[in-house]
Amino acid sequence: MSKIINGKEIAQSVKDNLKEKVLQFEKDYGRKITLAVILVGENPASQVYVKNKITATEYVGMKSLSFRLPENATEREVSDLVTSLGADDNVDGILVQLPLPKHLDENKILALIPASKDVDGFLAENVGNLLLGLPTTVACTPFGVLQMLKYEGIELTGKNAVVIGRSNIVGKPMAMLLLKENCTVTICHSKTVNLKGVCKNADILVAAIGKPKFVTADMVKEGAVVIDVGINRTENGLVGDVDFEAVKEIASYISPVPGGVGPMTIAMLLENTYICATKRENK
Ligand SMILES: NC(=O)c1ccc[n+]([C@@H]2O[C@H](COP(=O)([O-])OP(=O)(O)OC[C@H]3O[C@@H](n4cnc5c(N)ncnc54)[C@H](OP(=O)(O)O)[C@@H]3O)[C@@H](O)[C@H]2O)c1
Repeated sequence: MSKIINGKEIAQSVKDNLKEKVLQFEKDYGRKITLAVILVGENPASQVYVKNKITATEYVGMKSLSFRLPENATEREVSDLVTSLGADDNVDGILVQLPLPKHLDENKILALIPASKDVDGFLAENVGNLLLGLPTTVACTPFGVLQMLKYEGIELTGKNAVVIGRSNIVGKPMAMLLLKENCTVTICHSKTVNLKGVCKNADILVAAIGKPKFVTADMVKEGAVVIDVGINRTENGLVGDVDFEAVKEIASYISPVPGGVGPMTIAMLLENTYICATKRENK
């Protein structure tokens, strides 16, 4: 029977800790840390994410600037907004909520965010820094997973870590972070041969696939730590990538969905905003 990793509780402790640091920042530099959030269009999930991000930003005492553009906004309109926020000295972080409507070139728009304000850690410069082991902002979801593992005091050095998924925002940065923590890391994807065998060898198993209950009990080693990044909306509600009920009988630790990685992602967005603000003041 596993210990259930309570992401909500860990995220709360990250935010409460941040509250104090944000207050100190305000005393030291005489201004509020400011995060700008841009939402283009009416995607219902994105609207909920943005609302939650704004609430959390204000909870820790940061200022939030919210920009909503219509679904049919032109690339020029979105680009001009990002560029002007990039040049605004009062703005510490810029978040463009993804996905953008199909007619907009996501990569082109994101590339307009200065690396120093890239709170999502998506830009090539920050991804490159992560690869080189240099200080940087790391994509919020894998950054959150690492904090969960550390909060639980899980030993990482020398462990076999398997990450299922190789996306730029979760799988790849997750693998880099685990490598930095001295894990022996394997990245799996849709073309991996003998996925079950590879997973069965994992001490730490991170699932970031986007397929409900994909990781079954027979893929998990007795005593493994299982982190479920997946968010799948099914007719039975929100479900992760791991068959939670069966796998929790085998794993030593497991993160649930909801209440696991999700809340950590928002907490780490705020941590990244704090890191960006502090770096900008000390450059
Ligand atoms: N909790 C959070 O805050 C948070 C944040 C971000 C994402 N998510 C969730 O995490 C999940 C993954 O997100 P993502 O953006 O990384 O997704 P993504 O870009 O769609 O990537 C999915 C990855 O899973 C791999 N995959 C798909 N089918 C597979 C299979 N049968 N066997 C092995 N690998 C397979 C894909 O392999 P290929 O590369 O070969 O196609 C790909 O690398 C989604 O459910 C998403 O909603 C949650």
